[in-house]
Amino acid sequence: MNARLIRFAAWILAMASSVAAQPAPEPRLPNVTLLATGGTIAGTGTTSTTTVGYKAATLGVDALVAAVPELAKVARVTGEQVFQIASENMTPAHWLQLARRVSELLARDDVNGVVITHGTDTLEETAYFLDLVVKSPKPVVLVGAMRPSTSISADGPMNLYNAVALAASSDAAGRGVMVCLNDQINAARDVTKTDTATLDTFRAPELGLLGVMEAGHPIFYRASTRAHTSATEFDIGAVKELPKVGIVLAYAGSGRLAIDAMIAAGVKGIVHAGTGNGSLAIDAKAALVEARSKGIVVVRASRVPGGAVARNGEADDDALDFVVADNLSPQKARVLLSLALTRTVDTREIQRMFWRY
Ligand code: SIN
Repeated sequence: MNARLIRFAAWILAMASSVAAQPAPEPRLPNVTLLATGGTIAGTGTTSTTTVGYKAATLGVDALVAAVPELAKVARVTGEQVFQIASENMTPAHWLQLARRVSELLARDDVNGVVITHGTDTLEETAYFLDLVVKSPKPVVLVGAMRPSTSISADGPMNLYNAVALAASSDAAGRGVMVCLNDQINAARDVTKTDTATLDTFRAPELGLLGVMEAGHPIFYRASTRAHTSATEFDIGAVKELPKVGIVLAYAGSGRLAIDAMIAAGVKGIVHAGTGNGSLAIDAKAALVEARSKGIVVVRASRVPGGAVARNGEADDDALDFVVADNLSPQKARVLLSLALTRTVDTREIQRMFWRY
């Protein structure tokens, strides 16, 4: 072999080894649809230090996506503006519309997951509603922010990146609807907003988080044992309006005024956020007994943030024909009761649902 031939063979070998050393071509990224509904994550303030008194729900979905170019590394993101509201204005009609859109998207082969940007104030209610009605194992992730987009160290961009990475992860499938803020992944059923201002506000204080996001990847530590998504009996297909359910807060001297107002307003269900283990003051009990006699379903919950309400504990639920909320907060109990009432008014059945979901 002459010298030129040897050099050519060496060059071929060098090229072959350099090709082998290249990273494998990136696999096709998952498709994630971002449904924007408003909130602080889309909020703007007048200065970079404005963290109160800013305006929520001002930026559109395109601006949210454009602010985080890193999203393109984890998913192919398509954005839709579903609503543009602060979440205190979210209503059951919004939940129905949102759930239908999520279900339509997840039924498509070319959608791998959905992220919903949402105000933090009622995020947990929307998340639990979706957890109970969306019939798909594909990931659905709700995300928000505690600081507006214009603030120093705004938390929205990293939260959004993590939420999209979570929704794009095959490891996130089948875990129910999740809430992802502050690098933490929580279950829709268990999570609640615990602080009016801090970034670590979303917690499941008693049951714990599902997992964490680390460098754009979820690490899961536990799974919820309660039935969710495809395993629920709720079908909103034909539901035009959710049955009206109100929450009554018990406090020293609260009497029966609010319960009477609910009865007069024609509610189908009342969640009583009682003191302690869901206890009932004398006036409240009399009003709730009257409500039940008119066909209104009464659920005993507690205003205490932790613990379950024991059936036949502070009240004789069997005799009164009341339901207990297990460890659901009053606002989550209201979500479940309104869905339960789309199926039945049988209180034994409704109690079963409170222990299942
Ligand atoms: C809202 O819930 O829309 C305002 C508050 C927030 O998003 O943190």
